Amino acid sequence: MPLNIDAKTGLVALLGWPVSHSLSPAMHNAGFKLKGWNLAYLAFAVRPEEEAVSAALTGLNALGCVGLNVTVPHKEMVCRLVDQLDKSAKHARAVNAVLFRDGRSIGFNTDGAGFIASLRERGFSPEGKSVLIFGAGGAARGVTLALAGAGASSIVIANRTLDKGENIARDINRLGLQPNAHAIPLESALIKDIASHTDLVINTTPLGLHPGDIPVWDDFSLFPSHTLVVDLIYNPEVTPFLRLAHLAGLTTMNGLGMLVHQAALAWNVWFGCPGPVDVFYKAARSASQSNNQI
Ligand code: ATR
Repeated sequence: MPLNIDAKTGLVALLGWPVSHSLSPAMHNAGFKLKGWNLAYLAFAVRPEEEAVSAALTGLNALGCVGLNVTVPHKEMVCRLVDQLDKSAKHARAVNAVLFRDGRSIGFNTDGAGFIASLRERGFSPEGKSVLIFGAGGAARGVTLALAGAGASSIVIANRTLDKGENIARDINRLGLQPNAHAIPLESALIKDIASHTDLVINTTPLGLHPGDIPVWDDFSLFPSHTLVVDLIYNPEVTPFLRLAHLAGLTTMNGLGMLVHQAALAWNVWFGCPGPVDVFYKAARSASQSNNQI
């Protein structure tokens, strides 16, 4: 928490619905404290109707707020509401960070680059790698684009609704980036066919968030032993998807690294310098433990 809120305290805000379990206030306020900056980061639950989100953006801009984070379910809507879009948000069709400058709002997306940074931190370079992604929602789109931009050689999107996977694959292929992207339905035989030449597997579905959830995929026996298995979920820390991958002897990673690195990159948007990754990890872990005790 900022030590002294006074008449000069600046504001960075998070808009989402709901936001009460977000770890972002803990991370960013710990960073502001480390820097000794007179800034506060507050989370606001904003109803999902366009009038509400639009009013929040206009109001925070008028109040002189430095910038925003935007989370589920507003990321796509804010894309339409800001005055200007950075290339990162234009490609992802989603905004997770907004900068207010000279009364105008500029939308950015640091989720994709944050994901790539978390892979590299784990020692995994996406260049030339074959990737299998489960799910085709907003998170899948962001991660897929980022992997394409980072030089993955092949991307397969496995999704219950084939069209949604095909839409993402089409968009990737249209950008003229290197990877060959295509979509398949969530069918066991098709997934087993590609398993033996996959380097990275990612769950972007919400399956695993709630106790008793059945994972989107449970057979990791055919993946090569070097395969990295990632779940974008970070609470719980170990989902059934990751537990099964670990039991099959594969390396696993949850979504905390992506959360931390997207936050660090949001500082580039607001302040022109990256946020302190170590402080963010520490603050996020401690806030997550407190949340789980509620
Ligand atoms: P976000 O936009 O936050 O990534 P989302 O739009 O809810 O989240 O997307 C979640 C993805 O998980 C979707 O691709 C969804 O599949 P559909 O496109 O068929 O809806 C997938 N998903 C959610 N629940 C699922 C389930 N029970 N089984 C398989 N896939 C599921």
